[in-house]
Amino acid sequence: MTKIGIVLGSTRPGRVGDQVARWVHERAGRRADAAFELVDLRDHPLPHLEEPPGFSGRYADERTRAWAAVVASCDGFVLVTPEYNHSVPGVLKNAMDHVHVEWNTKAAGFVSYGGVGGARSVEQLRLVCGALQVADVAPQVTLPLATEFENHTVFRPGDYQLAALDTLLDHVVAWSTALAPLRRGDAEAAIRSRLDDVIEALRAKDLEALRRVYAPDVVSFDVEPPLQHVGVEAKLTNWAKVFTFFEKVDYELRDLTIAVSGDLAVGHGFGRVSGTLKNGVVADGMWVRATFVFRNAGDGWVIVHDQASVPFDIATGRGVADLEP
Ligand SMILES: Cc1cc2nc3c(=O)[nH]c(=O)nc-3n(C[C@H](O)[C@H](O)[C@H](O)COP(=O)(O)O)c2cc1C
Repeated sequence: MTKIGIVLGSTRPGRVGDQVARWVHERAGRRADAAFELVDLRDHPLPHLEEPPGFSGRYADERTRAWAAVVASCDGFVLVTPEYNHSVPGVLKNAMDHVHVEWNTKAAGFVSYGGVGGARSVEQLRLVCGALQVADVAPQVTLPLATEFENHTVFRPGDYQLAALDTLLDHVVAWSTALAPLRRGDAEAAIRSRLDDVIEALRAKDLEALRRVYAPDVVSFDVEPPLQHVGVEAKLTNWAKVFTFFEKVDYELRDLTIAVSGDLAVGHGFGRVSGTLKNGVVADGMWVRATFVFRNAGDGWVIVHDQASVPFDIATGRGVADLEP
């Protein structure tokens, strides 16, 4: 189901924004066409940006990774924003700048509030969304402190605001849902590039590069015993063993198919390790059936499970290692 994050863009002590965000969340929660999560930037205290541009989706700081995971988990957003000095609150802009690919190909709508309703903040957020490849929907909710808040502090929106909010939510859900095929395409491209990283690392016999492709808790059902290789160290030990046999390693992957759903993806294809052995013999290797499970916990796609196998002949109980895809 489409998931929409309602991002509260003020962390100021004494803020009124929490009342507005709760109002949006409560109204949105009555809908059946999407799931809604309130995202409070107070729960994601980020430093002023210290990360390199987030185009790779890999981040150094644990706080960025946690924030990236939240943004990645949403298909669209309602940004609830005040206006500070005719502009976007710094804390919201900083959070938007911290990650990049996680925002791409999603949709956003805006609920603004402030002395004169916060519309100028929204105008600027629309520009930021353009840079982040977030499709901004036109309907918006604008809440001036003088008319929608008692004493400028207690939120008492007019009933007419509900119709405006409903229209905004209609658009955010529709756009977020419609963009899903494009997002799957982006994820698939990122996963294919991860598998290219594996091939490059194998050819270079680079164990450290391989380490980056696997989750620390990867469980691998490789062709060799034991039944399972648990953890990245066990997986790397297996690859290290291959490197001791081969002087020169090659790896081919054919007929790769990838299916993505949220932060999990499954790929399958046929893989073959080949190369030149230490004794100079050229080894063609054997084709195995390969399955990969990827997870993206906000730190890029990594392999959490893989499986390599050959069929076996029931009569003899032996593996059949000479099949070609
Ligand atoms: C630093 C600062 C600048 C502000 N500048 C504007 C402004 O330019 N236009 C406006 O309409 N309201 C402005 N306001 C009023 C805020 O929009 C209003 O205080 C709102 O309640 C702030 O949201 P918050 O309480 O959730 O932080 C400003 C408030 C602050 C704190």
